[in-house]
Amino acid sequence: MKRLGILLSGRGSNLAAIAESIAQGRLRAEIAVVIGNRASAPGLEIARSLNLRAVAMPSQGIDREEYDARLAGELQASHVDLVCLAGYMRLLSGGFIRAFPQRILNIHPSLLPAFPGLDAQRQAFDHGVKIAGCTVHFVDERLDAGPIVRQASIEVQGHDTRETLASRILDQEHRIYSEAIQFVLDGNFEMDGRRVVCKSL
Ligand code: GRF
Repeated sequence: MKRLGILLSGRGSNLAAIAESIAQGRLRAEIAVVIGNRASAPGLEIARSLNLRAVAMPSQGIDREEYDARLAGELQASHVDLVCLAGYMRLLSGGFIRAFPQRILNIHPSLLPAFPGLDAQRQAFDHGVKIAGCTVHFVDERLDAGPIVRQASIEVQGHDTRETLASRILDQEHRIYSEAIQFVLDGNFEMDGRRVVCKSL
C-alpha cells in the first residue's frame, strides 16, 4: 500500500476528503502521517479523530531550511511515497523539494496559472471571471507554478457570492485531489516539458 504524508496548517477538509476516499476504496493508499505546522490547526484534530498519526510541528520563528530538514526527516521516517499539501500555508525550501522529486502535490483553489497565492477564490470572484475552479499540481520551487496534474472548473453564477463560490470550488477540490493522488501513485504518466501526459491512451 502506498503511503501518504499530509501537510496542513488549518481546517483540514481536504484531509478529511482524502481519508473518506480511502475508506470508500476510491483511493488505494494509506495516510502514514499528518503533520501540522500550527499546533492549533483543526486538521490535526480531524487526523486524531480518524486515528491517524498526527504530528504538531510548530514552524513559527524557525529558520526555513532547519524546519524543512526536520519535516523531511519526519516524512522519511514514516516512509511516505507521496507528500500531499492540503492547505499548508508555508513555502517549502529547495532542499525539501529536492528531497522528494516529483513526489509533492498541492491543491490550489483557482484555475492556475490564474490567481496564484492567497485568497485565490476571492481574487477570481473580484476579477469577475465566468469560469472558476481548482488545480492539483506538482510542487516546485516557485509558488503555485509546478506541472498541472488535474483541474476542475465551475461556472460562476450571477447570484454567487465569494462564499458560495469558494464553497462550490471546495466541493471540486475534495473530488479531484483524491483522483490526482491515485493518478500519480499509479505512475502511468510521463513528463513532456511541464505537461503531465497519461501514457495509456
Ligand atoms: C483549500 O482551499 C486549498 O485549495 C488551499 O487551502 C485550502 C485548505 O482547506 N490550498 P482545507 O484545510 O483542506 O479545508
